[in-house]
Amino acid sequence: APRLQRLGRIVLGGAVVGVSYLGWRMYRNRYPVEQLPYDPTKKTLVLLGTGWGSTTVLKNLDTTQFNVVVVSPRNYFLFTPLLPSCTVGTIENRSIMEPVRQLMRHKAREVTFYEAECTGIDPETKQLTLKRHTNADVLQSIRERETTAPEDIVKLDYDYLIVGVGGEVNSFNIPGVEEHACFLKEMPDARKIRRKLMDSIERASFSDISEEERDRLLHMVVVGGGPTGIEYAGELHDFLTDDLSQWYPNLSQRVRITLVEALPSVLQAFDKKLIDYTQSTFSENKISILTRTMVKAVQEKEIVVQNADGSRSEVPYGVLVWATGIKTQPLVDRIRERFPLDQSDRRGLLVDEFLRVKGSRDIWALGDCALSGYAPLAQVASQQGKWLARTLNKAARKADEAPGADLFTLVEKSARSFKYSSQGSLAYIGSDKAIADLPLFNRNITAGGLTTFWFWKSAYLNELFSLRNSTLVASDWVKRFLFGRDISRE
Ligand code: NAI
Repeated sequence: APRLQRLGRIVLGGAVVGVSYLGWRMYRNRYPVEQLPYDPTKKTLVLLGTGWGSTTVLKNLDTTQFNVVVVSPRNYFLFTPLLPSCTVGTIENRSIMEPVRQLMRHKAREVTFYEAECTGIDPETKQLTLKRHTNADVLQSIRERETTAPEDIVKLDYDYLIVGVGGEVNSFNIPGVEEHACFLKEMPDARKIRRKLMDSIERASFSDISEEERDRLLHMVVVGGGPTGIEYAGELHDFLTDDLSQWYPNLSQRVRITLVEALPSVLQAFDKKLIDYTQSTFSENKISILTRTMVKAVQEKEIVVQNADGSRSEVPYGVLVWATGIKTQPLVDRIRERFPLDQSDRRGLLVDEFLRVKGSRDIWALGDCALSGYAPLAQVASQQGKWLARTLNKAARKADEAPGADLFTLVEKSARSFKYSSQGSLAYIGSDKAIADLPLFNRNITAGGLTTFWFWKSAYLNELFSLRNSTLVASDWVKRFLFGRDISRE
């Protein structure tokens, strides 16, 4: 019994320490300590972007070594793997957004943030051109490339530059895509999908429309059988079976989901067993997969596809989600143009093994915009961000000891070159099933099903940016379990 009492005291003591630590962390998060001010003796490091790469740099960078300026058209970090869940309300939008200013406020030295798009660079004068945004829907205005008032063009000087601007949706210049399809890359995209989806369903409930028109409105088409398209189709199926079937009992029977993929199979990067598992789960869930079918044009109410036998047909749709991958940002081309001898690849910025942009003396690039030999994955960008920040921290300390030394050269002496270590791939495929392709003990383990789904949930909870995000996402999952998804249009 005394032993048991002692154990009880240890457990209780541990719990008190744990709770106090958590409370202290939450308090500090809400009320951060004073920061060091701008230091004119330090170099200015400009970080472009607030995606996986750049935000991870900021998180790990020793800001006592630099004056840091962050430039991005989006003042938050977005946990993109859970974006498909936001399109149907499994997760609330703000649960996967982390304001960049909160992160900045916790750095040792003050960090400056400009909500703007970088549109040009002059490596000679070390100056960037920024386009300030006045439009509320920032991303929309970037896509439309609106003309900008002269007072919204701003110049910014840098000593060192890190480019982590990601990519943009690739429509392959297929006519009608930009006008009629919904993308799934940014938060405004998820919001637009949700509105269009509910709009289509409400419209289909009018009694005066033809049966043909009703079927069109209730046909949800996804183009692209990569992980984004698959995860969206899976989430949509769940919304249909868990919620729409209750609140629109007559209409929900008629909702159809079709996934269109140009290649012979979906999820090309995954193991064959997982592809088969996904295809059979989709077939059980009555999601049609049209492989070897390429979308050639998009019209307001139908897509024109080229079928496997070469024939063409029109497929009417109510909501069209376009998930065919990404291409480079215009800024990347503008940077490449400044280093014509070294930057010959149109797919992105060529970097060396230390992520230094080839041809430059003071620019690094990471993530989807950098051609580092790795796939354009969030995991890669995040590992690069961590590696780059730590390497720059070390190099800056070395530069302190040898004033005048060149940081670009010092990075070579401060760390081994960047190597990506794959943690595997995970994807949600609907009806509480996920697939996983994991490297374990030098072997690739593949798994699919309910257990994998719980693994998927816990992995994402763990990877979310902050304790706040993890708490919000976990509570969204509980809310959905208790009350179902919200079907209001907004
Ligand atoms: P993706 O590039 O992986 O897939 C796009 C698909 O669209 C391709 O299979 C392509 O054949 C198809 N396609 C292109 N044009 C078409 C057309 N006109 N008609 C029909 N089909 C067409 O794109 P995704 O899914 O956006 O992923 C981008 C990157 O992010 C990939 O590297 C992916 O692996 C990664 N990713 C990984 C996730 C995960 O592991 N859970 C989640 C989301 C993205």
